[in-house]
Amino acid sequence: MIIGVPKEIKNNENRVGCTPGGVAELKKNGHIIYVQASAGVGSGFSDEEYVHAGASMLNTIEEVYAIAEMIIKVKEPIALEYPLIKENQLLFTYFHFASGEELTHAMIKAKAICLAYETVEKEDRSLPLLVPMSEVAGRMSIQEGAKYLEKPMGGRGVLLGGVPGTKPGKVLVLGGGVVGTNAAKMAAGLGADVTLMDISLSRLRYLSDVMPANVKLLMSSHYNIIEAIKESDLVIGGVLIPGAKAPHLITRDMLKYMKQGSVIVDVAVDQGGCIETCHPTTHQDPIYEVDGIIHYCVANMPGAVPYTSTIALTNATLPYAVQLANKGWDKACAHSKELSLGLNIIQGKIVYKAVAEAFGLDYTPLEEVMSSVSVA
Ligand SMILES: NC(=O)c1ccc[n+]([C@@H]2O[C@H](COP(=O)([O-])OP(=O)(O)OC[C@H]3O[C@@H](n4cnc5c(N)ncnc54)[C@H](O)[C@@H]3O)[C@@H](O)[C@H]2O)c1
Repeated sequence: MIIGVPKEIKNNENRVGCTPGGVAELKKNGHIIYVQASAGVGSGFSDEEYVHAGASMLNTIEEVYAIAEMIIKVKEPIALEYPLIKENQLLFTYFHFASGEELTHAMIKAKAICLAYETVEKEDRSLPLLVPMSEVAGRMSIQEGAKYLEKPMGGRGVLLGGVPGTKPGKVLVLGGGVVGTNAAKMAAGLGADVTLMDISLSRLRYLSDVMPANVKLLMSSHYNIIEAIKESDLVIGGVLIPGAKAPHLITRDMLKYMKQGSVIVDVAVDQGGCIETCHPTTHQDPIYEVDGIIHYCVANMPGAVPYTSTIALTNATLPYAVQLANKGWDKACAHSKELSLGLNIIQGKIVYKAVAEAFGLDYTPLEEVMSSVSVA
């Protein structure tokens, strides 16, 4: 198959859809890979490394889209890319269609095959292509929180780990999923006094087996949250209710219980945030203050560490990309339920119900479309 890796052109996006290692793997499987010049530079990969791995470089994004049967990228296409997409071209990337009406219409019009990273789903309902970015954001949340706790950054002036003779900083983590456990592990590693809350008792039981001794596990409740925020220096929001807006576990009137100069990092901001006073911010202007509490609410945290994020993401996407290239999207999806759940739009038909419902558009069951494509 002919595979194209364009340079991301969305503002401040430095990740790339395929590393030189990925190119070598696809090449080993007999495929031809075209990479746009400087596509990997933001993630630390030079054009020479891609060429060495077996890619051919193309100067423009137009050339990459024109030649490729499958495009591997990171972010959803933006308006400048819409006219470049060809009928029947396979696009393997994040789309987040339900929050992009214009994008949905553009992809219907393009008659492409849109396989979205975010809806590839394993039998146990986990989302393997979202996990790596939650791992990155969870770990980063402590690094960012620690930074903004410093006095010159506007914080309380607390060192999370403390030193002998002082008390360590207190960290409250709301949600014990991928973000929350990664945040708790990092905070515990720094020596902080960590409390992690979740509403799932079985999850708390599991975490009590694997978390270090300086992570206390508590049931998430309004009462427990109020008691914990009175003492916390840093609060991490990592709650998710799949398919729904995050619940506001800390409301504005609860901020009065918190210490002045303490910091909130609401990682769940991309789902509306679990702190009422959160609104999305950017890496250029990441924080703001409400009632003396610093809020960090960057909606694409992994974008700040593109080298790590690109490798973490492509470690997860590459095995699927190889399947798609080796078998073609139709056979690969017919043979893999988890991959088929990534299909959102096929040749102008929406095959993912939640996307059709989001905009009141027609929905065609995937089985109907798949039965009309010949699969060996
Ligand atoms: N800002 C960013 O850059 C960024 C990056 C990655 C992920 N995220 C977001 O972070 C959020 C968390 O992602 P995740 O992968 O950890 O999800 P996850 O599904 O692995 O974990 C969510 C956890 O929240 C728990 N939960 C639900 N309701 C709760 C409540 N009332 N109190 C306490 N816990 C509760 C669930 O039981 C679950 O364990 C998502 O909204 C995700 O989109 C943001």
